[in-house]
Amino acid sequence: MTPTQPVDWDRLRAAATEVRSRAYAPYSRFHVGAAGLTDDGRLLTGCNVENAAYGVVLCAECGVVSSLHATGGGRLVAIACVGAPAERDARVVLPCGRCRQLIAEQGSADTLVDAPDGPVTIAYLLPDAFDSAQLTQ
Ligand code: THU
Repeated sequence: MTPTQPVDWDRLRAAATEVRSRAYAPYSRFHVGAAGLTDDGRLLTGCNVENAAYGVVLCAECGVVSSLHATGGGRLVAIACVGAPAERDARVVLPCGRCRQLIAEQGSADTLVDAPDGPVTIAYLLPDAFDSAQLTQ
């Protein structure tokens, strides 16, 4: 699957940076925003949401995945995440391992993930991923 249009990374990073301003991260103080592009051109965003029960945290990418389905489904073709301590400017951050698994299921091997040295595929970030095919073997 390839994007139906070139990925406007500046737009994705700007959207991720904007939504980061609404992160709820009073415990880590690490504010994250994420913005994803769908195969039909929708722009989806999410921010991290923490909890007094620390392990219950929702990563910013979880918001993007929820929004993907809440707004009609489809596939993720690109995603950008930015994060930094609250008082600092956002910088590109790579998704955590759990979020790589989420992105892999909602995209394809070719889904692009922003990285400090430029976008890479989710297959590069999560090689030999567990996927739904494993469930029936
Ligand atoms: N976080 C994300 O939102 N996405 C990631 O991919 C990595 C980590 C959040 C979780 C937590 O609220 C904070 O960053 C510090 O780990």
